[in-house]
Amino acid sequence: VLGLGTSLAREVVVLEEVDSTQRVARELAEGGAPEGTIVLARVQLGGKGRLGREWGSPPGGLWMSLVLRPEFEARFAPRITQISAVAVARALIGLGVPAKVKWPNDVLVGGRKVCGILAESSLRPTPAGTLLEYVLLGIGLNVNVEPEDLVVFGDRATTVRESLGREVDLLDPLARILRELETGLPDARSFSRTRKDLRSLSHTLGRQVRVARSGGAVEGLAVDITAEGALVLQTEGGMVELFEGDVENLRD
Ligand code: BTN
Repeated sequence: VLGLGTSLAREVVVLEEVDSTQRVARELAEGGAPEGTIVLARVQLGGKGRLGREWGSPPGGLWMSLVLRPEFEARFAPRITQISAVAVARALIGLGVPAKVKWPNDVLVGGRKVCGILAESSLRPTPAGTLLEYVLLGIGLNVNVEPEDLVVFGDRATTVRESLGREVDLLDPLARILRELETGLPDARSFSRTRKDLRSLSHTLGRQVRVARSGGAVEGLAVDITAEGALVLQTEGGMVELFEGDVENLRD
């Protein structure tokens, strides 16, 4: 499809303007759309971020949702977002952009956010345990947009164009991301390659951080990412493993 050079792209739906590509992808997935169905929009009027936040989506960005149908247990779902963050970072590095991964799944350049990832899963309870019916992998990559037009919480925004000093054809990062996902997703079970990449590409490890999460904020030195994808913090009260949260670096 579109000469993207990957089997992950089976059908690409390109929309001019939409509320959210996640909403369209959900409808398609509910209607039985296969893995590799991709929804792209030039503009999103109601782009969704994590934690119910708004995601500004003006023209010039890569706003996409990909339907995945992974054949594994629901407990592996959080790994998909981390695999995706690594895939985007590797794709950007391939383009010449020095991207880093901020745990668990933001991609930053020079400490500023260039990409956000939102994975929404639909679960299927079976006698053998809860499986994944589908995952909607939403990727918002600021490619040729004006940073001032973006609404980003926490970290300031940057763009691929700002990093490279030139416009980039959206199909280039799209094809690279899909190829990286194609090689990265099979790692969901062992997670070993992703863990290695998360460690080497991390914007979080080795830094003093504050992690805001539902159970309250925790501060400490980020020392490791476990085989489960959890962030290990060395706090005054000892080692703590975190499975979710919003990281703020206390010293950059
Ligand atoms: C975040 O960092 O909070 C996640 C942002 C995810 C944005 C993408 S853009 C394409 C897809 N459609 C949406 O409405 N959201 C995701």
